[in-house]
Amino acid sequence: MALNKQTILAQLLAHRSVRQFKKKPLTTQQVETLVEAAQHASTSTFSQQYSIISVTDPKVLTEIAEITGHSWLLNSGHYFVMVADQFRNFQIAKRNNADPFILHTTDKFLAAVFDAAIATENIMIAAESMGLGATIMGSILNDSNRMIQLLSLPELTFPLLGIAIGYPDDEPELKPRLPQAMMHFNNQYHLTPEMPNLVDYDQLLAEYYQSRSTHRRAETFSHHIISELSRDRRVRSDLLHNIKAQGFLVD
Ligand SMILES: Cc1cc2nc3c(=O)[nH]c(=O)nc-3n(C[C@H](O)[C@H](O)[C@H](O)COP(=O)(O)O)c2cc1C
Repeated sequence: MALNKQTILAQLLAHRSVRQFKKKPLTTQQVETLVEAAQHASTSTFSQQYSIISVTDPKVLTEIAEITGHSWLLNSGHYFVMVADQFRNFQIAKRNNADPFILHTTDKFLAAVFDAAIATENIMIAAESMGLGATIMGSILNDSNRMIQLLSLPELTFPLLGIAIGYPDDEPELKPRLPQAMMHFNNQYHLTPEMPNLVDYDQLLAEYYQSRSTHRRAETFSHHIISELSRDRRVRSDLLHNIKAQGFLVD
């Protein structure tokens, strides 16, 4: 499959998360291609500090649907969980009588998060290039402890993101992004507490939310950010504890 630069850019600029899928599983070859695309992403110090778990057991998928509140994942053609992973490198250290302390540090937890996140985006881009659609799911963190149990995750691993992938059964509208002046700066950070209100972007997003084909609502970007703040604080309040319990952030 030959993609020229223009088609890659056009695909990136046309990205939408897809949450409705045709009932058609991905083939083993498609799954392997997606994993290969993930593997070719850059990784910090080439330490490849993440793993991917394909979840195919319907019981586990049902539990993940409950944890995330996203029952539609059960219609996806494949489900990945991206895992921060220093366990593998810990075994290499142990076998070579090297001090593994560094693998437990904040720095190495962040490196594993970067690696897994960048690999996640590679899977998204690869999937879209194959005519598939997908949605990343941070909501697996609603119950990270349960995720750790479900996937038998050992010390020095942590579940970060799910990815539901499949054949799109709808064509969501493109979500407008922030104006670049509000997020791309020269040399120094430019926003101040006196920054202007996002009037035009709020209006643009309100039009998007009102005109899209599903889940129409009256909402601006500012509104959206404020409503995100009213989430139940107890959900995910165990994150730091669970990350530490997995052996990370010891410094
Ligand atoms: C780290 C991360 C976590 C996300 N978690 C969820 C999620 O749990 N559920 C969901 O429906 N979408 C999730 N998304 C998708 C975002 O909602 C989506 O990317 C955003 O609304 C922009 O829409 P678009 O991807 O269609 O452009 C997540 C995206 C990212 C990057």
